[in-house]
Amino acid sequence: MKTDWNEEQLVQEYADKHRGITDWRLGYKSVLELLRKVCGKTGLDYGCGSGKFARRLKEFGANVYALDTSQRAIDEAIRIGDVGIKYRHIKSGDLSSVPELDFATINFVLCCVQDNEEIAEILRKIYEKLPQEGILVVCEPHPDGVNHEFVSYRSTGKVPLKSGDKVRVELDGLSKKFCDCWRPKKETLELIAQAGFFVERVKEPLADPEEFFWKDEKTQVPYLIVKAVK
Ligand SMILES: C[S@@+](CC[C@H](N)C(=O)[O-])C[C@H]1O[C@@H](n2cnc3c(N)ncnc32)[C@H](O)[C@@H]1O
Repeated sequence: MKTDWNEEQLVQEYADKHRGITDWRLGYKSVLELLRKVCGKTGLDYGCGSGKFARRLKEFGANVYALDTSQRAIDEAIRIGDVGIKYRHIKSGDLSSVPELDFATINFVLCCVQDNEEIAEILRKIYEKLPQEGILVVCEPHPDGVNHEFVSYRSTGKVPLKSGDKVRVELDGLSKKFCDCWRPKKETLELIAQAGFFVERVKEPLADPEEFFWKDEKTQVPYLIVKAVK
């Protein structure tokens, strides 16, 4: 069944209870590194949820547009404090409220979308808004991370998985479980390239084994992070 990201309990718990240590240390950190200098630039956080990464971009001095198809997530982001971020509730792929961008990011969103055509359309629309050499960074749960136990998440699925299969996801702090759509790494990279982007870099960071609190992050990469350039 498709996960309803407009559902109250899921949105609330994701906003208030998910600590996301793995997300911050091995996901968003790399996204920020790949975006390079964001200060003074206009950026898009596509599928922003309750805005945690949008707020980080804003703290670093970016002019931020943050879009999501979930009205409840946008309401929650504004309740937490919009701090000048331009939040917009949109239909999937509708970037009409966004000006020309310097950069864009999509974190943990493609895994919510079953249909590759819908993803292709989102990526094409983002491509259109970027200037030549504009950067898009995509961060996704790593397809090889299924059936591993990470500090911030665990996903389970029946292997071998094929594109479009559902995997069950548990996030730290959430009592609500939900489903993601699984797709192989090659397919995610192809979708990005087919939208016209040059895939410049793929990051698959492991955790520092000296840090005692990590679980499978020491040996299995939890996230797939892609830097794509127009
Ligand atoms: C797992 S949350 C991630 C939120 C945020 N990017 C973050 O890193 O915390 C996924 C979000 O993607 C949004 N979403 C799902 N499908 C979307 C689509 N087609 N277009 C825009 N947002 C979408 C959901 O409403 C939800 O808020």
